[in-house]
Amino acid sequence: MDATQTVPVVTIDGPSGSGKGTVSREVARRVGWHLLDSGALYRLVALSGRLHGLAPDDTAGHAALARAMDVEFGTDAGGAERIRLGGADVTADVRSEATGQGASRVAAWAPVREALVERQRAFARPPGLVADGRDMGTVIFPAARLKIYLTATAEERALRRHKQLKEKGSGANLAALSREIAERDQRDSTRAVAPLKPAHDARIVDSTGMSIAQVVEAVLAAGRAQGLWS
Ligand code: C5P
Repeated sequence: MDATQTVPVVTIDGPSGSGKGTVSREVARRVGWHLLDSGALYRLVALSGRLHGLAPDDTAGHAALARAMDVEFGTDAGGAERIRLGGADVTADVRSEATGQGASRVAAWAPVREALVERQRAFARPPGLVADGRDMGTVIFPAARLKIYLTATAEERALRRHKQLKEKGSGANLAALSREIAERDQRDSTRAVAPLKPAHDARIVDSTGMSIAQVVEAVLAAGRAQGLWS
């Protein structure tokens, strides 16, 4: 039996700006489980491709980087997220909107997705894993003990992303952001491989009008009801 069957996994999938990143991080912290931010891996593939000067349509080259890239997730002394690629701090680049768009393009390619499967499953380590993404419940961890599909209206998601980018000090235009989110939703949900959709056994949580704290409490309550934590 591999670790994905013995270690309990909670999956939190959903579209961009649904709040799943913040919610997943907070749930993992509260229960003391590991966190997989799978979107960051797709972002790192796009960024590595750019740093290696790959042509934007070089599928095999990006898949090779997805397999080989040396990635480290951590936090700095103040507890802020730090992502390293080949030892260099690339956190700001990884989180930029441009890298998000690049990620959504490379994520549509089957060889890139395939190259990341084992890397993602390796995050399932005791005492448990909270996995955040688009296909965590459908493809990567189909046997997860609890699957959440977190959504919100497109308007609310654009507003949240806008606020988040502003807080990080990067300028962002709300109208452009709404357009980019709509484009990304369209590409993520219509691609042939692992399209964004709820697993058949996922609980759908519409977070429109809910605070992050309320969503976190809802996920914690669902996990408690499943006996995953006390
Ligand atoms: O969640 P985040 O915005 O970081 O994801 C960036 C892009 O990576 C998404 O738009 C999506 O195309 C892709 N992705 C994916 N499968 C995942 C996580 C992210 O296809 N499990």
